[in-house]
Formats: sequence, C-alpha cells, structure tokens
Amino acid sequence: MRLSSRLAVVAAAWLLVVAFSAIAAEVDPGLCTLCHGADTRGNAAVRAPRLAGLQPWYLSAQIKAYQANLRGTHPADVPGNEMRFIAAALTDQAAVDKVLSQFSRSSPSMPSPTIAGDATRGEQLYGTCAACHGGRGEGNEAVKAPALAGGSDWYQLAQLRNFTQGLRGMEPADLAGQQMRAAASGLPDAQAAADVVAYISTLR
Ligand code: HEC
Ligand code: HEC
Repeated sequence: MRLSSRLAVVAAAWLLVVAFSAIAAEVDPGLCTLCHGADTRGNAAVRAPRLAGLQPWYLSAQIKAYQANLRGTHPADVPGNEMRFIAAALTDQAAVDKVLSQFSRSSPSMPSPTIAGDATRGEQLYGTCAACHGGRGEGNEAVKAPALAGGSDWYQLAQLRNFTQGLRGMEPADLAGQQMRAAASGLPDAQAAADVVAYISTLR
C-alpha cells in the first residue's frame, strides 16, 4: 500500500476510534478489524498482525506499552508508530480489555506460511525460545512470553529484526521487551531468524 493511502487509513481509523469511544464507552471491534483483518486473522498488506489466539494478558500489556511510549516510538518503526497512534485514542481500559478477550477467543483458519526458511535448523534454534515461549509455542504468562504458534510469520520475523536492531525492547522501563531483545540477539544471523520462524509456523 502506498504511504499516502496508509496514512489516510491510520488517520481515518484514529478519528473513528476517538469518535466512537466518546459516544459509546466501548470499543467497536470493527475499528480493529479494519487493519487486523476479519476475525483479526492478520493483514500483511498493512502489516497488522494476527491477534486471534494471542493471550488477553499479552494483548493488554502491548496496548499499555504503546500508550506508555515503550513501544512504537522509534522513527524507523512505521507500523509500530501507527499502532501507538491508535492505542493513544483508546482511553477506556475496561472496554479495550473486553474487545481484546473477544479477539483472543476467535479462531479463524490457521495462516499459511509466507516465510521461506529451513524449519529443521529452526527446530534446533527454537530450543532456547522454548524456555520462555513453551515447547509448542503456547506462551507462558509467568515470564510474560506470548503464544507464537499460529501467529503471522511475516510479523514475527519483522519483530525479531525490530528487537535485534533496537526498534523494540530498547526502553529501560520495558522489562519484558528487554528480555526478548536479549533472546533475539542470541540468534546467530538473519537466516537463523527466518529458519526459527519457519519452524514456529509448523507448531499447533
Ligand atoms: C491503522 C491500522 C490499525 C488499526 C485500525 C488497529 N491496528 Fe493494531 N496494529 C497495527 C499494526 C500495523 C500493528 C503492528 C505494530 C508493530 O509492528 O509494532 C498493530 C499491532 C497491534 C497489537 C500488538 C500485537 C502483538 O502481537 O504484539 C495489538 C495488541 C493491537 N494492534 C490491537 C489493536 C486493537 C485492539 C485495535 C482496535 C481498537 C487495533 N489494533 C487497531 C495496525 C492497526
Ligand atoms: C527470556 C525469555 C524469552 C526467550 C528465551 C525468548 N523470548 Fe520471545 N518474548 C519474550 C517476551 C517476554 C516477549 C514479549 C515482549 C513484549 O512484551 O514486548 C517476547 C516476544 C516475542 C515475539 C513478539 C511476539 C508478538 O506478538 O509481538 C516474538 C516473535 C518472539 N518473542 C520470538 C522468540 C524467538 C524466536 C525466541 C528464540 C530465539 C524467543 N522469542 C526467545 C520472552 C522470551
């Protein structure tokens, strides 16, 4: 999508979120699926990831991280800046949590893999990830690590780059992000990131 039309979508969505929240004291899920796709299955065209199946505590923590300027602040992180802008318009936390728990429960069909990588090498690399994200990529609230199984693979690869390049997890107050940044930096090379994501795509 061209930059001008992307900006138009963000501006329109922001206006809708502000207007709707002011009137209704609730969040219309349609404002989120505008970018995140039907049933929040993910939409690569606007780089908005799948939210379906992610744990509500993780989704809620991310909205708070955007709102507290702990995520999506780096000028090179264009999608993150977009979502931070939207999150800033969400003022009623209870209403946000309600819509997030709905997304968490939705289960559209699994995404098709889009990343070419060596899943066999990725399986070996995933050994270190499993300590926090679980052997089946199911996530672990105790260490604030979200589920990875069933996520948007293109988004996960982009996030691994964001962590290693200091676009995410670079704020001192972002403890969860810092932990993940350290883990991502342990991947030996860019191909390793693609390989581990290719393996994660096989997890159910
Ligand atoms: C204008 C498009 C757009 C709209 C509208 C939008 N989002 Fe997003 N959202 C994004 C993009 C792009 C990202 C990825 C940001 C990044 O890479 O950091 C994102 C990321 C997120 C994340 C982080 C996901 C993760 O796995 O860490 C959450 C949670 C989220 N959005 C919730 C919402 C909710 C709730 C709404 C509706 C109130 C919403 N979004 C509306 C574009 C949008
Ligand atoms: C020390 C624990 C730990 C280890 C080890 C770890 N992670 Fe994470 N990971 C986290 C935490 C905590 C988060 C959430 C960060 C946040 O809140 O911003 C996360 C987030 C992520 C995300 C972003 C998910 C999203 O929806 O935005 C991806 C992708 C990811 N991890 C992949 C991996 C991979 C691949 C490995 C192995 C190379 C790995 N992680 C190892 C703790 C860990």
